[in-house]
Amino acid sequence: MAELSAAQVRARVAELGPWFHNMELKGVRTAPDHFLHDYPANKFARFAHVIPDDLSGRSVLDIGCNAGFYSLEMKRRGANRVLGVDFDDRYLDQARLAAEVEDADIEFRKLSVYDLAKLGERFDLVIFMGVLYHLRHPLLALDLIHEHVADDLLLFQSMQRGANDIFEPEIDYDFSQTAHFDRPDYPKLHFIEHRYAGDWTNWWAPNASASAAMLRSAGFQVLDRPEEEVFLCRRTERPTEAGAVYPARSPLNGHDKTKEPRR
Ligand SMILES: C[S@@+](CC[C@H](N)C(=O)[O-])C[C@H]1O[C@@H](n2cnc3c(N)ncnc32)[C@H](O)[C@@H]1O
Repeated sequence: MAELSAAQVRARVAELGPWFHNMELKGVRTAPDHFLHDYPANKFARFAHVIPDDLSGRSVLDIGCNAGFYSLEMKRRGANRVLGVDFDDRYLDQARLAAEVEDADIEFRKLSVYDLAKLGERFDLVIFMGVLYHLRHPLLALDLIHEHVADDLLLFQSMQRGANDIFEPEIDYDFSQTAHFDRPDYPKLHFIEHRYAGDWTNWWAPNASASAAMLRSAGFQVLDRPEEEVFLCRRTERPTEAGAVYPARSPLNGHDKTKEPRR
């Protein structure tokens, strides 16, 4: 394929906007006015050291890949196979453009996290960054990742609100004991019925204990927490029998993120 000129890249970037990932493609900034500035490069700088420098021979799945920032970074580390999935066509087109400009051999596929079983493949590193709080069924997503795609490492991030300390509850409490529920650091998922930061797809805001507890409960051992909201985990056995459920689907229950919910 002929190399794109800077002018062509600029035109494609404008056509595919707005961008959530602010990347530089052939000198063209994809989101120069981003509210988090040089995002996600400025975030990645704070936890890049926990991921192996050399990923040669390894496979990576980037769930909710958006414009592919993390997929590209993993390819730069020499990953053998990188697959980015997202359920949003425009983000996937952005990711494909970024990979083309960077001449990176990355596959991008339209897939919801709830359909990961369709891949029929496990990955050495699964990246699940910035997606959990956008899901109505967050624990189901973690259960599905454990059951179908994670082989070893999981890099996880969630928007978090509330206490940042991690409290690990006892294995059991007497029925009369209730005080622990009132601790700010007890695992809590704050449910967002309407919207947060103007975004109706923000459904949950866990505190740090809830992120850690949900990961453990889905069968992921937390190895490192390089940032308050970033967890590096290793897949282990699930602590209980409980795992993913598979509700029967009605042909009418499709999902369109672009549609506002009915009030
Ligand atoms: C906040 S962005 C995070 C992007 C990137 N992972 C990061 O950390 O910068 C959330 C992404 O998850 C995608 N997403 C949300 N729900 C999803 C779902 N059910 N299945 C697949 N992707 C989803 C969105 O389209 C969006 O690209």
